[in-house]
Amino acid sequence: MILVTGGAGFIGSNFVLDWLAQSDEKILNLDKLTYAGNLKNLSSLEKDSRHVFVLGDIGDIKLVSRLLVQYQPRAIINFAAESHVDRSIHGPEDFIQTNILGTFRLLEAARAYWNKLEVHEKQNFRFLHISTDEVYGSLTQIEPAFTEEHRYEPNSPYSASKASSDHLVRAYHHTYGLPVLTTNCSNNYGPFQFPEKLIPLMIVNALAGKPLPVYGDGLQIRDWLYVVDHCSAIRRVLEAGKPGETYNVGGWNEKPNIEIVQTICNLLEELYPGSTFHHLITYVKDRPGHDRRYAINAMKIERELNWKPAETFETGIRKTIQWYLNNQQWIADVQTGTYREWIEKNYAGLQ
Ligand code: NAD
Ligand code: DAU
Repeated sequence: MILVTGGAGFIGSNFVLDWLAQSDEKILNLDKLTYAGNLKNLSSLEKDSRHVFVLGDIGDIKLVSRLLVQYQPRAIINFAAESHVDRSIHGPEDFIQTNILGTFRLLEAARAYWNKLEVHEKQNFRFLHISTDEVYGSLTQIEPAFTEEHRYEPNSPYSASKASSDHLVRAYHHTYGLPVLTTNCSNNYGPFQFPEKLIPLMIVNALAGKPLPVYGDGLQIRDWLYVVDHCSAIRRVLEAGKPGETYNVGGWNEKPNIEIVQTICNLLEELYPGSTFHHLITYVKDRPGHDRRYAINAMKIERELNWKPAETFETGIRKTIQWYLNNQQWIADVQTGTYREWIEKNYAGLQ
């Protein structure tokens, strides 16, 4: 069995579904179900005994320690985090609590559990920490893409909290020998992404005829990775990554934000002949401290672990738009908050 934290969020739920589609190894899924956690993402697994869901906080060391002893996972994959830069600007506290303190406590529980394993299990155990390219800071137009050697220069409370957690993970390897792996990936997109992030927000707003808010001049650049490609990279790192190493994961798809929004409008116009969406594009006040450009050099994972993304942006964005069009009920449940009703009913008294 493996323990996945944050497995009801965007990337975590894609990972859980992808994992169980290819393997019968069980998943213990520990998630606090914040606003970003949505068990509807995993409704196809409701009767699947290979998926065990536990409502809880990675910072609850007693709970995590008990789960580790009870389920004896061979690996922990830590997706759990507060993940939205804009929210971190409005209220950084939760980011410090979960991303820094939570990761610290998860590491402590993992270390105690790992220390007591038999030699063989101890050697094979892995703690895989999911991080971000944002810890490297911002690039100018002409600087080369981030390699794993790039210095950490986080600029938002979110990226600073992720950088702190990465440092803790690194320290637990160097100090205690915990077999850790860290992946730093670029902007993910695809099914089940909460519509407060750029791509799903633009799709959902466009379908509702609402403005498409573009921050500043819209020329900030991100490197887009289809979430299923990210899942395959994580599986590969877990399988063959060298403990103590970090691996950058990217899609080789650098694009300015405005181009992303225009592409979404173009594709929607193709799918809905006669409708127009470009007129909805609205430039709004910039995000404070907005990083100008991220770009991932993903050569190390290609060279050492033979991993490459399968999707281009053109194929991935088509699949993503089609998924949102086919899942309007999922969008409605998120927008009305209905997705939380089941959680409240099922976990009454626990939250
Ligand atoms: P998300 O916000 O969609 O999901 C986060 C999940 O973690 C939610 O299910 C939430 O309920 C859970 N969670 C939050 N706090 C928790 C806690 N204290 N204990 C247990 N569970 C908790 O995030 P995401 O986009 O799926 O990102 C997953 C990971 O990948 C994060 O670590 C994020 O920093 C990293 N990352 C994301 C992107 C991206 O583009 N989305 C890119 C790079 C890295
Ligand atoms: O780079 C990896 C990071 O990507 C992850 O670590 C984060 O968890 C993830 O949320 C994402 O962060 P970004 O800030 O890049 O994602 P977001 O979708 O919020 O914004 C993408 C770009 O689009 C960014 O330059 C800001 C801009 N934007 C965003 C929103 C929500 C807009 O122009 N308008 C918007 O309304």
